Amino acid sequence: MNKLFVSLLLTIGVAGAAHAAQPIKGDAAAGQGKTAICGACHNPDGNSLAPNFPKLAGQGERYLEKQLHDIKSGKRQVLEMTGMLAGLSDQDIADIAAYFASQKGSVGAADPQWVERGQALFNGGDLDKGMPACTGCHSPDGAGLALAGFPHLSGQHAQYVSKQLTDFREGNRTNDGDAMTMRSIASKLSNKDIEALSSYIQGLH
Ligand code: HEC
Ligand code: HEC
Repeated sequence: MNKLFVSLLLTIGVAGAAHAAQPIKGDAAAGQGKTAICGACHNPDGNSLAPNFPKLAGQGERYLEKQLHDIKSGKRQVLEMTGMLAGLSDQDIADIAAYFASQKGSVGAADPQWVERGQALFNGGDLDKGMPACTGCHSPDGAGLALAGFPHLSGQHAQYVSKQLTDFREGNRTNDGDAMTMRSIASKLSNKDIEALSSYIQGLH
């Protein structure tokens, strides 16, 4: 291999590493101006009213940014958003994520009939099935761990949460990484477990 080629490869490698180590910083104020089209479904402040549209307000910035890249690339399929992210740059995506992360998330109510079962699963997991507690990553109050990219769940619409858990279980949502964390956890949940957890999460705060 000639020397020029080798040094070119090294330069590209170093530049690539520098890019990965330095995430783009989002600007919430600039992001607000880029969300006009999103408000129709997610509401301008990110607290969507329809139960099938996820709330984005107060969601972790890193998680939002990852989902937007995954939706844009088709790694996560959201038919309702087809083509909407195509014109957005990495900076636009970072700004939009910063904007919704800076909004205050609203909370709903849990159906009393599911609280006990939902809470037991959320806080304790299911030892017999080898399922870890949700709190380990999403925290006891459902706030998640923003810096690690573990999503905020509290107050999210039960219908949306239930669809995500079912999609992970059935392999219709596969963007949870090579470790398949959420797919393997959801594979241990029955329909009733999912109903209980989703209702519990909707009222959690
Ligand atoms: C026509 C309705 C619609 C519009 C407009 C729309 N979305 Fe969505 N969005 C959805 C639906 C539906 C989902 C969830 C799909 C699913 O069930 O997985 C979603 C999911 C998301 C998610 C993932 C949330 C999570 O908790 O994982 C993000 C982030 C998001 N949208 C951001 C945006 C942004 C930013 C815009 C504007 C550029 C936008 N959406 C425009 C309908 C819409
Ligand atoms: C080991 C860590 C871990 C545990 C334990 C865990 N999760 Fe997750 N969860 C994640 C990560 C990471 C994601 C984001 C995956 C991605 O990037 O799309 C996620 C995503 C989710 C989502 C999708 C959020 C959204 O807005 O679309 C739901 C719902 C969820 N988890 C519920 C649960 C429930 C319920 C439990 C317990 C039964 C649980 N998780 C246990 C790490 C975990």
